[in-house]
Amino acid sequence: MDILSRLDEAAACVRQRLGDAWAAAVVLGSGLGGFASQVEDARELDYSEIPHFPVSTVEGHAGKLIGGRVAGKRLLVMAGRFHYYEGYSMGQVTFGIRVLHRIGVKVLLLSNAGGGVNPAFRPGDVMLITDHINLMPNPLVGPNIDELGPRFPNMSDAYSPRLADLARRASALRKVPLTQGCYLGSTGPTFETPHEYNFFRTIGADAVGMSTVPEVIVARHCGMEVLAFSVISNVGGLYSHKEVSHQEVQEVGALAEKRLTELILGVLEAM
Ligand code: HPA
Repeated sequence: MDILSRLDEAAACVRQRLGDAWAAAVVLGSGLGGFASQVEDARELDYSEIPHFPVSTVEGHAGKLIGGRVAGKRLLVMAGRFHYYEGYSMGQVTFGIRVLHRIGVKVLLLSNAGGGVNPAFRPGDVMLITDHINLMPNPLVGPNIDELGPRFPNMSDAYSPRLADLARRASALRKVPLTQGCYLGSTGPTFETPHEYNFFRTIGADAVGMSTVPEVIVARHCGMEVLAFSVISNVGGLYSHKEVSHQEVQEVGALAEKRLTELILGVLEAM
């Protein structure tokens, strides 16, 4: 079965179970699932119930779609995402994003946990992603699906300046500190060596992580507007030999979750 038919079957299922006319969708990253408790009149759909949907295997990722209302807006939440390091193809990693597009979602809010390479960052900081560097395989390699988007999509404005402004305003209004910078996507699953953190800093990154970039590329390919946040769980570099663990990433995520929730609420309110 071709990708468009698979997308249509998955989209039909989501529509039937959760409805449509969504104002936006939110993807929750590692240890950031708590935002899901904000959803009112929530209806849940397990990924395993959606035709052709992969199932997430990482601790801290729930693996369900939640549809409901947040800040008065119809919102779809993807609690749990798919990572390349789990062994999924890039097509699988980004399948859910294309399903969202297929059911008419035009605004995509993404979150992740990342490692800071900007030495000014501290664990618990929230970084507005203003650009990215892709060091993963590109999810659009292969025959282009013209029904979804162009062969050579532009990435000069991958992160919506309009939505970024709403995030900065939410930060000021709700007094939630917000930094900004460039996110570098690497495959993982290893965390970086001190020299790799240093290299990523040298080439212009402020944070590094193992997700989000493929989703942004696919979302921009099909014309969705994107806003993304990275929660800094650790800071790496030549002079920081502190070990980082998945547990630490989740613990800092839990602390920063309140900030992230406030920011997303502020953006949704202003939309
Ligand atoms: N590197 C890559 N991904 C991450 C990190 C890191 O240091 N921290 C959280 N996700």
